[in-house]
Amino acid sequence: MPSIYLQTFGCQMNVADSNGLAHQAWSLGCTFTDAPDEADILILNTCAIRETAEMRVYSRLGQLKAIKRAHSKLLVAGCLAEKDRAVMRKKAPHVDALLGPRDYRQFKALLTDWGVPTDLPPPETPMRLPSAEDAPGEDSPAQYAHLRALVSITRGCEKFCTYCIVPYTRGPLESIPPEEIEAQIQREIRCGAKEITLLGQNVNSYLYEGLNFAGLLRRVGRIEGLERLTFLTSHPHDFNREVVDALAELPNIEPRLHLPVQCGSNEVLAAMARLYTIEQYLERIGYFRERLPRWALTTDIICGFPTETESDFLETLGLVERGTFEYAFVFAFSPRAGTPAATMEPQVPQEERLRRLQAVSAAQNDRTRRFHESFIGETVSVLVSGPSKKDPTRMAGKSGHNVTVIWPRDAGTEHKPVVDVAIEQAQTWGLVGRVA
Ligand code: 5AD
Ligand code: SF4
Repeated sequence: MPSIYLQTFGCQMNVADSNGLAHQAWSLGCTFTDAPDEADILILNTCAIRETAEMRVYSRLGQLKAIKRAHSKLLVAGCLAEKDRAVMRKKAPHVDALLGPRDYRQFKALLTDWGVPTDLPPPETPMRLPSAEDAPGEDSPAQYAHLRALVSITRGCEKFCTYCIVPYTRGPLESIPPEEIEAQIQREIRCGAKEITLLGQNVNSYLYEGLNFAGLLRRVGRIEGLERLTFLTSHPHDFNREVVDALAELPNIEPRLHLPVQCGSNEVLAAMARLYTIEQYLERIGYFRERLPRWALTTDIICGFPTETESDFLETLGLVERGTFEYAFVFAFSPRAGTPAATMEPQVPQEERLRRLQAVSAAQNDRTRRFHESFIGETVSVLVSGPSKKDPTRMAGKSGHNVTVIWPRDAGTEHKPVVDVAIEQAQTWGLVGRVA
């Protein structure tokens, strides 16, 4: 049977898509390997969100050219396959096929073309996926990976923020029927999942025959055996009080919200077509903080968007310095060909984008460390990820706030999926403690 090497770049959506592709291949009897030089079929599931993401894919494609065996096939899937459809042949002629995120229904047919038989009974061995993540060895070891499951509730996005390539690569919004979502969650729970993440580019735009995101949360929140529920990503325009009220009712929801603000200036927000003002954002999180105290609010920020002035930047910096967020992913603006922002004038020089990024990151790090310090002396419940990569004498996991927690390995709790850890130290990257 053919063996497959599968490497995933980019967001959680890609990780979920890779799981889907892997499942299709496994159902035909394919096996998986983490050695690209031994694989019959090599798949890169790629990302195009920023230029750096793209460069990493092309550099990996360069490496694979030398590694790939003569008879092996190379498939590029994901957002870069869609975005660079016309130029991939020139840039990487050793690629045998491209499948964009909307083409995965053709995956089995492609495998058949490549000689994978479709008439065999389903395999008796469980699916094992050694290298689903971008950096092999960085992902949680297989015996812990199944504890966290990603369940897509929407596909695509039609917000068309002016910097973003996603609506072009993933297409228009589509909501998945609730029965399908429930069945998927139940399957994952049966396979041992302790945490379910509902996934969508903007989960708040979920709408299926009158059922909105708040309704869906209430519905899936009742599923038996569901221990921890969370969701990614929310758009501030659609994140409303009804959603906050639904979250406040759910006993098994993890205390964290990712609500990308992108920047603190109304002029720049308008140029980004984000559909809210900073006052509206603050009003929304005001209600959220009131109803859900001590949740972790995390965000995304873009520095150096075209037209961003020093005073626009200072508004973003001020927002971060005031401690608005517990954690932030901070990016330098990266022009994406075909998006309106790529040709907006004036562009901010790259050096200046990076200077602003560093200032915002430094301010956020201060705030994040203080947030972590607030856990010292408390006992937190941690979902285990596996032995720590830096120091295998310790274990690592994530708290409900999504904070990394490290503790000395302990024979009594070695194979437990969830461990209570008494927190003793706080760092910018996370928490250190011992089994409580
Ligand atoms: N440049 C920089 N950052 C971007 N993001 C999306 N597109 C770009 C771009 N062109 C960021 C946004 C988004 C996150 C997933 O990636 O902050 O929320
Ligand atoms: Fe991109 Fe905006 Fe859609 Fe998020 S909401 S995927 S940033 S277009």
